[in-house]
Amino acid sequence: MVTTTDANAIRQAALDHLWMHNADWVTMAEEGGPAIMLKGDGVRVTDAEGDTWIDAHGGYASVNAGYGHTEIADAMLEQMRKLTYFPQGTTTVPLIRLVEKLGELAPANLERVWPVSGGSEANETAVKIARAYHKRRGDNGRYKIISRRGSYHGATAGVMWMGASSGMSDYEPAMPGMLYAPQPNFYRCEFDSRTPEECAERSARAVEDLILLHSPDTVAAFIGEPIASGLAAPADEYWQMAHEICDRYGVLLIADEVVTGFGRTGKMFAMEHYGVVPDIMSVAKGITSSYLPLAATIVATDVADAFAGEDNVFRQALTFGGHPVTAATALKNIEIIERDELVDNSARMGAYFLERLEDLKARHPSIGDVRGIGLLLGMELVSDRKTKAPFDDNLQVSKRMTGKMHERGIIMRFSANKVTLGPPLCITADDIDEIVGAMDGAIGELEAELSLV
Ligand SMILES: Cc1ncc(COP(=O)(O)O)c(C=O)c1O
Repeated sequence: MVTTTDANAIRQAALDHLWMHNADWVTMAEEGGPAIMLKGDGVRVTDAEGDTWIDAHGGYASVNAGYGHTEIADAMLEQMRKLTYFPQGTTTVPLIRLVEKLGELAPANLERVWPVSGGSEANETAVKIARAYHKRRGDNGRYKIISRRGSYHGATAGVMWMGASSGMSDYEPAMPGMLYAPQPNFYRCEFDSRTPEECAERSARAVEDLILLHSPDTVAAFIGEPIASGLAAPADEYWQMAHEICDRYGVLLIADEVVTGFGRTGKMFAMEHYGVVPDIMSVAKGITSSYLPLAATIVATDVADAFAGEDNVFRQALTFGGHPVTAATALKNIEIIERDELVDNSARMGAYFLERLEDLKARHPSIGDVRGIGLLLGMELVSDRKTKAPFDDNLQVSKRMTGKMHERGIIMRFSANKVTLGPPLCITADDIDEIVGAMDGAIGELEAELSLV
């Protein structure tokens, strides 16, 4: 552990020089931040003050195998000692083994793997491949990309425009050709549907309406997370219909499995819940459990084959894509996920976690909805259950709940009255009880402050 004086000096250096993601240094200083983490083990991390926390969101739902696997560190070191990089036009053994393994794990003919360094890059690559694929086939007018409102596909200059997030005016103009479909979110279904099935069907039909409105020969791809973070899994109809619609109009289906891949939802990949094989699949996060930055765009052979032959090469190079140390890390991480049966644990512990959240909902009027599958769960707080009205922004419910959970030793960030839970897949029932106990206390305290009980 560092001394208190050291911790303060390090924190001051962070405030002076670090431009932290989604934060500003003035507010961070007022709040006594940032917390500085020193070590991790399983679902827990320890900070510079020596306090240990449960990380209920597993980094960014990305530390699938859990913190502190020295085996992964050993695999990195072994590769680093052998070869840290590769000269132009050559490749390395761990990368070859990894792409072979991904081809084995991914369904059907998703066999051709383009390695990159993060989820945003994987989706940028997916969009470029989709557009270029149509051009290779002489279908020159297809460039539009359909995404769903409320989805997130990354922060870089192209993919940031997918999902129709608010607050983007700083970065205008938007990438051309962005079209937006409804999110199949039953709790707030755009069609006021009475059942999840109706919401799924109408949301999928809306994708077809968009394709027809814009003319199929202008649409390159439809992208969606099989199960969006913090939302309920859509009813089966959704992906089955969406897949059929894409096929009918020659639109490529891109599954963004950046969060859902590698066991997060209780299957290796979330599209397995629906029996749907996309044309392109983006993976990141859990591929290395965040031990090192690596991601990939996995492409079906019939799409990838359009890029075979000297004249057809897909022109893109990224310096760090396929780095051998990251590949060795991913291989060891996937070995641990399989060996320790973490996909199965995700399904079992996810069901238990959801049951405990349902129990919380039965006792707390401010909980509007709890949802999710495997260890990708969500909760939404509301001021009125009947109308589903959100709390007034002035009440700062998200900030207060995040603070209350911190006071109880749990890292859990609320935003817009919602929270997504994506803990490491090695979580136990005792860890879940501890998290839910803390949520019970924090929500109870909030409800008392707001005179809701
Ligand atoms: C579904 C999804 N796609 C893409 C991304 C972007 O990944 P990255 O942050 O690694 O660029 C994220 C990140 O949270 C995500 O949740």
